[in-house]
Amino acid sequence: MKYGYFDDQNREYVITQPDTPLPWINYLGCQAYFGIISNTAGGYSFYRDARLRRITRYRYNNAPFDFGGRYIYLRDEVSGGFWSPSWQPTRRKLEHYSCRHGMGYTTIASHHDGIEASTRYFVPLDENLEIWQLTVTNHRPQAADLSAFSIAEFCLWDAQDDSTNFQRNFNIGEVEIENGVIYHKTEYRERRDHFAFFACSEKIAGFDTQRDVFLGPYRGWDNPAAVERGQSSNSVAHGWAPIGSHHVKLSLKPGESRQIIFLLGYQENPRDQKFDPPDSQILNKKAAKCVLAKYLVAANADAAFEKLRAYWDELLGLCQVETPDVHTNRMVNVWNAYQCMATFNMSRSASFYESGIGRGLGFRDSNQDLLGFVHMVPGRARERILDLSATQLPSGGAYHQYQPLTKRGNNDVGSGFNDDPHWLIVGVAAYLKETGDWSILDEPVPYDNAPGSETPLYEHLQRSFRYTLDRLGPHGLPLIGRADWNDCLNLNCFSDTPGQSFQTTTNKDGKVAESVFIAGLFVLAGRELAEIARHRGLTAEASGYLAEVAKMEATVRQHGWDGEWFVRAYDDFGRKVGSKENAEGKIFIETQGFCTLAGIGLEDGLAVRALESTRKMLATKHGIVLQQPAYSRYYLELGEISSYPPGYKENAGIFCHNNPWVIIGETRVGNGDGAHDYYSRINPSAREDISEVHRCEPYVYAQMIAGRDAPTHGEAKNSWLTGTAAWNYYAITQWILGIRTGYDGLLIAPVIPAAWRGFKATRKFRGVTYRIEVERAGRGNQVSLEVDGAPIQGNLVPLPPPGTKTVAVKATLR
Ligand code: BGC
Ligand code: NOJ
Repeated sequence: MKYGYFDDQNREYVITQPDTPLPWINYLGCQAYFGIISNTAGGYSFYRDARLRRITRYRYNNAPFDFGGRYIYLRDEVSGGFWSPSWQPTRRKLEHYSCRHGMGYTTIASHHDGIEASTRYFVPLDENLEIWQLTVTNHRPQAADLSAFSIAEFCLWDAQDDSTNFQRNFNIGEVEIENGVIYHKTEYRERRDHFAFFACSEKIAGFDTQRDVFLGPYRGWDNPAAVERGQSSNSVAHGWAPIGSHHVKLSLKPGESRQIIFLLGYQENPRDQKFDPPDSQILNKKAAKCVLAKYLVAANADAAFEKLRAYWDELLGLCQVETPDVHTNRMVNVWNAYQCMATFNMSRSASFYESGIGRGLGFRDSNQDLLGFVHMVPGRARERILDLSATQLPSGGAYHQYQPLTKRGNNDVGSGFNDDPHWLIVGVAAYLKETGDWSILDEPVPYDNAPGSETPLYEHLQRSFRYTLDRLGPHGLPLIGRADWNDCLNLNCFSDTPGQSFQTTTNKDGKVAESVFIAGLFVLAGRELAEIARHRGLTAEASGYLAEVAKMEATVRQHGWDGEWFVRAYDDFGRKVGSKENAEGKIFIETQGFCTLAGIGLEDGLAVRALESTRKMLATKHGIVLQQPAYSRYYLELGEISSYPPGYKENAGIFCHNNPWVIIGETRVGNGDGAHDYYSRINPSAREDISEVHRCEPYVYAQMIAGRDAPTHGEAKNSWLTGTAAWNYYAITQWILGIRTGYDGLLIAPVIPAAWRGFKATRKFRGVTYRIEVERAGRGNQVSLEVDGAPIQGNLVPLPPPGTKTVAVKATLR
C-alpha cells in the first residue's frame, strides 16, 4: 500500500493522506539554520546545534507521535468552525490533502469547506530564518470571512534544560512585541546575545505570546481558546511558556487568493550592541529588521526559493544516472544524495528518532558520511575533516563525538572505540580521491584541540594506523576496546547494573577481546594509507604499511576464518563470537561484508564462501540481518547487542548501514546480479508499495528494518540519520555502477546485473564533466574503454589536460 507517490520531475515525494504510518519528515535549511518538518507541519527549528540553540520547542515520544510544529489555524468567521490546513493539530477532515517534500522545502496544501490553503516552508540560502508562505484561496461561490492564526512555541534555547529545569524555566521567559513582530529574548538580559523573531507580512488583528492565554485553561493545541473565539488576547509572556501567534483577518471574494508570509528567524548581535538604547534592556533590532523587511515581500521570498531550487539543481547535477531501474535512478539522482546532505548537516543529532539533545557529531559516523557528500560540498568536507581530526587524541584514538557549536570532543558517549581512528583514514582518502587536494595533508591540526599540539594532518593518519598496531590482542588481531563499528558489541563491559551506559561502562581491562571487523577495516585503511604515502613520495613508509596489512590478512586467515565464514570477534575469555562453535550469534554480517569489501580472500575463494554463507544464513527478502541466530537472552560478556529483543537493532535486525558492505563484497567477486538484488531489497523507493509494512518514509533509508526473528519483520525504524545513506550511495555509484574516484583519475568498473543493457551517467569530477555510456556486449564485467573516441588500456580514465570541460567515456562490458 502507498501513501503517496514520487514526482521525479520535480524531485518531490507527494504524500496524499496525512495519516501516514509514521510521521514522514523533511529537513529545512542546509547551512546554519535548520528545521525538521513532518507531513503535518510538525517539528522544530534550531540554529547550528539542536541541543544548545533550539529555537522552537518539541516534545518527543508524544501521542500522537508527532505533535507540535509550525501550525496555522484557519477560522470561518461566520460559522465559527476552524481547522488546520496541515491536518494537525485539529485533525479536521480535509479534501485534497497533499504534502510535497522537496529539496530543502515542504509544501502542504489542502481544501476545507471551499477554502484552499497551501503553505510552503523553506529556509533561504545564507539566511538564519525560515519562511512560511501561506496562500489562501476562496473557491466558494460567495465571499469568505476568515481568520488565520499562526503559532510557534519557543524553546528556552538549551533543549535539554528546557525539558527538565522547570523551577527556573517557568520564571525566565521574556518577549518584546513591536509593530506586530514577536521577539523571543529569554536569557538575553544576561549572557545570551541571540534572540528569535516571528513576523507576519500582513496587518495583524492581534497576537499572543503567552501559551496558556492562547490555549485557554485545560485546552490543547487542537482547540485553542483564541482560535475558537476568533480573537487573540495580545498577551505578553512573563515567565511560563512564551509563544508567537499572529492573528490575521482575511476577506476573500469568490475566486480570490491572498498570500501571508510568516517569518521565523534567529539573530545574533555583537556583545557591545545588544541593547538599543545601549543603557536599556531593549533588544537592538536593527539587523533583524533588515532581513524582515526583505523577506516579508513575496517577490523576495519567491526569488529566495528559486535560488534554493538552483542550489539543489547544481548539487544533484554533479552525479546523474540513467539506468534501467527507476528505483536506482531516483535514489541516486535525488533522494539518496539528498539524505547524504542531511547526514552531513545533522550527523546523528536531530531527527524524529534522535532527540537533538543526545548526540553531537560522531567521529566514526561523520567520517563515513563523507563518502556520500564529499563530491557535493568538497570545501565543507575539508572543514569537517579538519574539525574531526582536531578532536583526535594524541594516542591516535578518538572521542566518540563532539559538539558542533564548540567543536570540542567529549566523553558523553565514551571513547576508546578502537575502530574510530581508521575511519579518519577512510574519510580523508575519499576526500583526496574526489578532490586531488593533497594540500590538506599539510594542514596543521591539533590533538584534543590543544593549542601548540599541532602536527600536519598526515601525522594524524599515521597515528590512527599506529593506534591499532599498539593495541593487538592475543591472536594478533586488533583489541576491540569499548566496541567497534557495532556499538553494541561491548566485550569489556560486563554490566549487570540497570541503567548503566553500555557505551561508557568498562569492567575488564580490555587486553583480551579482539575484533575481526577492525582487522578488515585496518586492511582497507592500511591500503589507503600506503597509497597516500606513495603519493607523497614515501615509498619505504608505504611498503611498511603494506607489510602490516599483509600480516593482518594472514592473521585473519589464521584466526578469523571459521571454515565457511569470517569470525566476528574474540570475547574476554578468548572465545570466538560469530562462529559455528556458538549456539547463538554463529555468523555476523559485519565481517562477511567488511573483509570481502576490503579484498580479503578474493584470491583464494574465502570471499566467495563468506558471501555464500551470508546468502544462506543471513539474507531475507527485506534485507540482510546482522547475525543469526539472534540472541535469545542477555549475555553479560556480549553487552548491549543481547539487550535487544530478537530481530531488533543490533540483535539480528537488518542494519541497513552494513548491507552495502556485502553489496560491495558481491561486486568484488563480480556478482552484479547479487549486488543489485541486495541493493533493491532495502532501497526505500523499491519498498514503496509495501509502505504499510515498511512504515517509514519511502524516500530515505532508515537505520534498521526489523529482522526475521521480529514479529514485525520488514518494519523500518529510525529513518534519515544513519550511515546507511552514505554507504548505499557509495555502493551503488562507485561499485555497482562502478564510477569510482581514484587518486589519479576516474575508474570505470561497473558490476551491473546481467540483464541490464547498460546505463548512462554524468559525473562531475575535479571540475570536468564526464559523460559516461556503458554498454553490455557480453555477460561479464570485463571493461574496454574509449575516451573521447580513442580506445585506452585499462579502466582508469586519466585526468585530462587543464582547461578540459567535458570528457566522453564509452565503456563496453564483456
Ligand atoms: C544503539 C546503537 C548506537 C549507540 C550509540 C545504541 O543504543 O543500538 O545503534 O550506535 O546506541 O551510542
Ligand atoms: C549507530 C551509530 O551511530 C553508529 O556509529 C554505529 O556504528 C551503529 N549504530 C552500529 O552500532
